[in-house]
Amino acid sequence: MEGFEKLCDGVYVCDPSDQQIPDSFVADEAVYTSFMDYFYICVPSEELTSEQVHEICSRRRLNREWAQPGSVNSTVRGVFKSLVRHSAPSVLLEIGPGDSPLLLTSESGTLRYITADTDPSMVAANAAIGYESHEFVDLPLNANSVDLVIAVFVLQFRFDQEELDEISRMLNDRGVFAANVYRRSKESRDRLKSMVLKSGMQLRAIGDSSELCRDHEYWIAGRDDLRLAAGEEFFRGLFKKSSL
Ligand SMILES: C[S@@+](CC[C@H](N)C(=O)[O-])C[C@H]1O[C@@H](n2cnc3c(N)ncnc32)[C@H](O)[C@@H]1O
Repeated sequence: MEGFEKLCDGVYVCDPSDQQIPDSFVADEAVYTSFMDYFYICVPSEELTSEQVHEICSRRRLNREWAQPGSVNSTVRGVFKSLVRHSAPSVLLEIGPGDSPLLLTSESGTLRYITADTDPSMVAANAAIGYESHEFVDLPLNANSVDLVIAVFVLQFRFDQEELDEISRMLNDRGVFAANVYRRSKESRDRLKSMVLKSGMQLRAIGDSSELCRDHEYWIAGRDDLRLAAGEEFFRGLFKKSSL
């Protein structure tokens, strides 16, 4: 395919300067659909292997301008930054930060900010620049010790019961797990929702009325109903502001 580079088996990346970026194309006898702006994949995103996810996230790392201000990624990161300010946690865990944790180390102040990724290269990169960085799910955190867990642009990938059980274990009784979900089919979302409930957390899914990306939702999970209601109100408040 002209203008497309095969990043690895099952993943193509296109040249963003090409104005004719299609939604999909056929190659290697499979239909490839657009994913994360400039990538194309031929399976549902939650079926990508960890090697494919690594290749995609590493290429994004080389092209930081793809997450420029005004991009969908930057807008959603802004939402989660504002959630962190609004919730004022003492202990914050970010799952799947890649090499761009939401907060700078200098921004965390007295907050204990822990990052955890499944990709060892991202874990090492973050540790090297001063983050408390761990491989997920192998975290040295006590039960009931975390106030807020966030995962930004992570739940479109495979996410296991073991990971949700670990989040549920680490969250304190008033703690909240907030994430965004997109691209998954209804069936895949329903399966993930059942896994969240199985981990012992309740869940509220709030559709993004600004439709930043395909079937975009914010999810908020935890055990305290009042906290979940407050989280839901936070996300709904965003849409009210953006429609003014
Ligand atoms: C698209 S990047 C998002 C990076 C950053 N959160 C952002 O929005 O700019 C996804 C990151 O999630 C990690 N990841 C993918 N699946 C994961 C999982 N099941 N658990 C934890 N991290 C995961 C990847 O290794 C990658 O670093």
